Amino acid sequence: MQSISSALNDSLIGKEVELRGWVYRIRSTAKLCFVVLRDSSNIIQCVGKIDELGEEKFKILSSLTIESSLSLKGIIRKDERAVTGYELNISDYYIFCRNVNFPVSKDISEDFELDNRHLWIRSREFTAVLKIRSTIFKAFSDFFYENGYYQVQPPMMVSTATEGGSTLFKVPFFGEEAYLTQSSQFYLETFIFSLEKVFTISPSFRAEKSRTWRHLTEYWHAEGEVAWIGNEEMMDIEEKMIQYIIKAVLDQNMDDLKILNRDLEPLKDSLKPFKRMTYDELISQSESLGMPLKYGDDLGADEERKIMSNFTRPLFITHFPSELKTFYHRPDPENPNLILCHDLLAPEGYGEIIGGGERIWNLEELQQRIRDNGLKEEDYYWYLDLRRYGSIPHSGFGLGLDRLAMWIMHLDNIKKAIPYPRTIRRLKP
Ligand code: 4AD
Repeated sequence: MQSISSALNDSLIGKEVELRGWVYRIRSTAKLCFVVLRDSSNIIQCVGKIDELGEEKFKILSSLTIESSLSLKGIIRKDERAVTGYELNISDYYIFCRNVNFPVSKDISEDFELDNRHLWIRSREFTAVLKIRSTIFKAFSDFFYENGYYQVQPPMMVSTATEGGSTLFKVPFFGEEAYLTQSSQFYLETFIFSLEKVFTISPSFRAEKSRTWRHLTEYWHAEGEVAWIGNEEMMDIEEKMIQYIIKAVLDQNMDDLKILNRDLEPLKDSLKPFKRMTYDELISQSESLGMPLKYGDDLGADEERKIMSNFTRPLFITHFPSELKTFYHRPDPENPNLILCHDLLAPEGYGEIIGGGERIWNLEELQQRIRDNGLKEEDYYWYLDLRRYGSIPHSGFGLGLDRLAMWIMHLDNIKKAIPYPRTIRRLKP
């Protein structure tokens, strides 16, 4: 038994192989039955002939419907007209499951597709999405392992907010109230005191009430935290990491990008250096970028979409006013109204994929920011302890992997980039 992609090979011409998979397409005439078989690796045209199979076996084969599962034995031939250039001449077959009616076809509504995601993930398009996601997740980890980082495992059930109370998911916890984590950042900060350079890939949860094309309530969050470095160096590392991931996808997923009709130029362009712009500079250029903004405006999905449709390469925005960001960001000593942070915005209208920056590492400053934000110091006792005992300068970031995947694949909604999206209206399948 071998994979379809390994059977598409000149060295097998004239030899008998056995393939197994699912019916991708099927049509028959009185004497010939064409089954396009798919497995995880590719598709191949297989032909059954009434003269060779006998009437009974031919009839059973030609009555199969799509997504039925079977194994096929036969001789491999080269055939330029066949969908992947080779054809299997069926000598025998075994049916595992004969489908009565596979409910999912190409022309289905978005809701029907989402209700049947467990079946839709078999489509060629979604198989390509899953393969590209797999490369992205691996490349993220590979990049950090190659650069001397440790992978760590923070908890998902937590007692404190990191990104503000309005998007917290509450979970009953044996008489106490727990939350699903919004970000593992604070735990990653604890790990740097033993490991210095750490990363994690974990789910994060946001009780987002708004429905937008880029928000999920559960998403895959790739976060890193690094001892001794500042905002600029953090951006240098992130830029290399994003380029490493893009290179991996370009190296390993050309066929999948083709299935998704992805224009490769913006991905190739993103291998060149990323531009950096302060929030101030962005505001003053906003009109010419087609999105007039005034100082103090926050950047949401619509604003970023307009701004980033001017770019084919990611763009860092730095030095936001402190009131636009959460309490842990370190103010710029040169101008304490601004913070040493950054967002990385993806081009082609996609917008924010990374948020990061330098953390406050002075105890009194952090205590003050916690109080100013109406939070209780005792809830953050362990986070404050990091500033009490051996505190050091450090920076970190959080990358939304589903958003990165959506941009890399040029999909129009984040729900198309994750197998089982969770949103305000969707918990099934
Ligand atoms: O900008 P955010 O909220 O930053 C943090 O959570 C930091 N504590 C991360 C850190 O420094 N360790 O989120 C980081 C990224 C965003 O840039 C975005 O890509 C993604 O997480 N993200 C979401 N992705 C999908 N759905 C949502 N609702 C998201 N919220 C944030």
